[in-house]
Amino acid sequence: MKSPEVKLAGRQIWAEIGAGALQNNLHAIRDHLDANTPAGRRVKILAVVKGNGYGHGTAAAAKAFAKAGAEWFGVTCSQEGIDLRESGFRTRPVLILTGFWPGEENRIIDHNLIPAVTDCRQLRMLEKAAARAKRKLRGPMAFHLKIDTGMNRLGVPPDSMDCVARTLADCPHLRLTGTFTHLASSEDFTSQQSDEQLAVFKKSLDAMRARKLSPGLVHMANSAAVISRPETWFDMVRPGAILYGYHQNYTPAQMRQDAIRQVPLEAALSLRARIVSMRDVPQNSGVGYNARFRTSQPSRIAIIAAGYADGISRSLSNRGHVVVREQLAPIVGTVSMDLIAIDVTNIEGAQVGDVARIYGRRESPSAPQQDVSDVARLLGTVSSDLLCMISKRVPRIYLH
Ligand SMILES: Cc1ncc(COP(=O)(O)O)c(C=O)c1O
Repeated sequence: MKSPEVKLAGRQIWAEIGAGALQNNLHAIRDHLDANTPAGRRVKILAVVKGNGYGHGTAAAAKAFAKAGAEWFGVTCSQEGIDLRESGFRTRPVLILTGFWPGEENRIIDHNLIPAVTDCRQLRMLEKAAARAKRKLRGPMAFHLKIDTGMNRLGVPPDSMDCVARTLADCPHLRLTGTFTHLASSEDFTSQQSDEQLAVFKKSLDAMRARKLSPGLVHMANSAAVISRPETWFDMVRPGAILYGYHQNYTPAQMRQDAIRQVPLEAALSLRARIVSMRDVPQNSGVGYNARFRTSQPSRIAIIAAGYADGISRSLSNRGHVVVREQLAPIVGTVSMDLIAIDVTNIEGAQVGDVARIYGRRESPSAPQQDVSDVARLLGTVSSDLLCMISKRVPRIYLH
């Protein structure tokens, strides 16, 4: 992927997204699944493209993953699903992972989306809507059942299989085509929680089968489980972060290096902004709001066209760096809504118009690495958090 000569008419900040990197990541996951499943068995991939495709753009990310062979797509709500359909994804299965709110049933049907049912009472609501839309549906309405196996966030309790089976027997316009759960700490190998969730999930599946209820496609694994917990793969896996190029922070930490070796990924997104202003300031000058940085020597301060309204965390104030001319330039003072001050005193030749890398691909092998994951670690958060923060006003430039 080669960085383009970016010419923007407006504000000088942009995200470069490598469609090739997204496809390569999907291929690497596919290879890993195939290499670790018995011959003749194929685990499907549901590409999670919620949260504006983890900041990469829902439609563009979904297109890249579809091209690379993803079978299913996961969004969080009906609106994200509708956006995906309206971008040209007409027929591929799209699962609404977080379910629906009463009143959304018709638009889910109208756009051929598959809702997750997270509460037994929702079955009757869906049944009513599906019965009304009988002609449009041409067959029973598909849904997936989400079981809460211990995360205590969303899903039917494992002991409600009776309620599900009894209610469904009375819902001729519905068809259960999948059953899933979500892992709370799949990257933590010092915790028993994933094993406990797996045991609860298997027991729930048995309880369904005992009631003559076929669970359909069974799925459980998120990123860390896709890489490191083959026992959770079942019929389909639901990778998010790894599709975009980021391995999780495992416990123990060494496991991340193993994951990187086992499944090599490419960070697909680079966030860049230009230096738009520069000044020399004397020693002991305040920089930015509330003078939260004071120069300890005569300094050259550059201003980049990036701020928290672009989705750059204000917690980077007086913390962290950007990369200018392949060198680290410290962020100085408070990250403001639209501008960030950086200290370029030691960067020879730095000038207005230079491109600063906030995160992403190095300009050359000798340039410092600064992926989203490096900044996320500095801030004590996860890559997905910083990726989803990148705001709408940042143009996304897709590289092929
Ligand atoms: C239900 C569900 N499945 C899969 C994922 C993907 O998770 P990750 O990005 O950790 O792979 C998410 C993300 O939060 C999710 O909510």
